[in-house]
Amino acid sequence: MTRRAAGLLSCTAAVALALMVVSLQVGGQQKAPAAPPAGSGPRPAAKAPAVTPYELAAMSYAQRFAVLCAPCHGANGRIETPLTPVLAGQPSLYVITQLFLFREGRRSNEAMTAVARTLTDDDLRGFSEFIGTLPPVTPPPPATPPDPIRMARGQALAEQHRCVFCHGAGLGGGQQVPCIGGQHEDYLQASLRGFHSGSRPGYTQAMTEAVSQIPPEDLDTLAYYVAQFRGPAAALTGK
Ligand code: HEC
Ligand code: HEC
Repeated sequence: MTRRAAGLLSCTAAVALALMVVSLQVGGQQKAPAAPPAGSGPRPAAKAPAVTPYELAAMSYAQRFAVLCAPCHGANGRIETPLTPVLAGQPSLYVITQLFLFREGRRSNEAMTAVARTLTDDDLRGFSEFIGTLPPVTPPPPATPPDPIRMARGQALAEQHRCVFCHGAGLGGGQQVPCIGGQHEDYLQASLRGFHSGSRPGYTQAMTEAVSQIPPEDLDTLAYYVAQFRGPAAALTGK
């Protein structure tokens, strides 16, 4: 019976890291062949923000997300705090690679590194699977309409540099490639500059190679375009 679950999971486990982490869950939940554990512990989970590690361990990952992650990322995975990425709509395989990079200190951010350091392999998998179920959240309408000249320039750059080749025509990503359409502009700008300067190493070299030849002002135009982008595919697939 665990074989069947393992088979299902292995479809998405093309990335070596995911393979490593996924196998732990299948072994751990031996009593539940089909239903996901709604509350894996016997005790009712506390709803109060301050919880003991013991109480936390008894919670589902949805509940843990509400306690540990939602204060910064928003209950539905989208919040308008500066430099805080939208998680709603991200594929679980992408999320697990990034949590892994934070935990290992290869991707660095004061806030996220502190959180990721506390996560076990089970946690990486549990949080990424939960985030993978969050439906995409429609961004709030822009304060001012997008500048059509900058949007056209951004679109041309995205085609020229093959962003759509990997992130998809709807910029919705998939598997280990993130959804970027509608992501916050300041965060996109910081990410693209980070890949460009090498301060953000990727899980693979894909992004470093994609942006290494692009001048900073074009990276900013790309961030502007991608943040304002509203594609049907981004809204529909999200993963
Ligand atoms: C104190 C605030 C804070 C908390 C708490 C927090 N995060 Fe984050 N998270 C951030 C910030 C800020 C970033 C952006 C880091 C960067 O720019 O590199 C981030 C980035 C991420 C990313 C990468 C997103 C991407 O698009 O690459 C993931 C995944 C993530 N967080 C998941 C989580 C999970 C899961 C939790 C709860 C266990 C959590 N975060 C708790 C602030 C927080
Ligand atoms: C060869 C495939 C490929 C191409 C081409 C590519 N990307 Fe990516 N992109 C990725 C992958 C894979 C990641 C995940 C990064 C990692 O490996 O950690 C990513 C990550 C990103 C991120 C970080 C998102 C986040 O949530 O932190 C941004 C922003 C981004 N890409 C934008 C772009 C733009 C803009 C272009 C065009 C200039 C582009 N990408 C071209 C594959 C690609």
